[in-house]
Amino acid sequence: MTAREAVRQISAELAAAGCPSPRVDAEWLVAHVTGGSRTDLYVADRPLLEEELERLRSLVSRRREREPLAYVLGEWGFRRLTLVVDSRVLIPRPETEVLVERCLELLEGLDNPRVLDVGVGSGAIALAIADERPDARVVATDSSAEAMAVAEENRRRLALNGRIELRHGDLLAGVHGPFDLVVSNPPYVAVEDMPQLPPEVLREPRGALVGAGRHELIAVAARGVLESGGFVVLEVGDGQAQSVAAGLRALGYEEVATTADLAGRERVVEGRR
Ligand SMILES: C[S@@+](CC[C@H](N)C(=O)[O-])C[C@H]1O[C@@H](n2cnc3c(N)ncnc32)[C@H](O)[C@@H]1O
Repeated sequence: MTAREAVRQISAELAAAGCPSPRVDAEWLVAHVTGGSRTDLYVADRPLLEEELERLRSLVSRRREREPLAYVLGEWGFRRLTLVVDSRVLIPRPETEVLVERCLELLEGLDNPRVLDVGVGSGAIALAIADERPDARVVATDSSAEAMAVAEENRRRLALNGRIELRHGDLLAGVHGPFDLVVSNPPYVAVEDMPQLPPEVLREPRGALVGAGRHELIAVAARGVLESGGFVVLEVGDGQAQSVAAGLRALGYEEVATTADLAGRERVVEGRR
């Protein structure tokens, strides 16, 4: 079977299993085992080796069981980075790339910025900021020891060890400021919304998804570690921006503003201390 034939066959199998984007997933899986890009599959088709087919069969059967594509591949792209991801961490999302973009804009013109990321997960936010602002000093926390292990692995693989301090703990516990910016993508899915989530999302850690009132808790704690004039920048769920913005104003934050994601939904809320 050639790579292109495999894409066709796997695409049909994934469609039958109810996967929402079977063709793209099939391309990712075949490209992953052949070691090329998705485009390569169309530029230079070739017969698959027996060991490639064997590996492919095992990956496809995981995806057919609706395991998220990122976990099946074991890695996922986030801004300029490729991060190791598995079921211990949330899969980094495109809207979080917008959150990082906004943080980078707010840090423009500030030398050696000090940044705190609350709920580091895979390390997506903290590592992307450290990568794109080589003069930044980043501290990141997470209450999940399993997530910390993944963030540590990504930090090591990306050779960002000296630039990011990882702390296992609740919210901002044990963290000492001052910081110029506190960023967080906290769990914000309401427990009653869980049954509506796709099966893939339900495979992600519950502690990374489900939460209520975390934005306010973080905004309260951030006041204690932010430099005067520093920023808190929070990712919010669809429809939560206005209430989180009102919460920041009530806590005395100034210049409260929102940023929309690529789909035009307000997903980032910021305030200035
Ligand atoms: C939505 S995920 C975000 C992960 C990553 N920052 C990203 O954007 O892809 C939330 C993270 O917060 C962590 N978390 C949940 N409750 C926490 C708490 N009380 N203190 C610190 N981290 C917490 C979870 O373990 C999870 O890794």
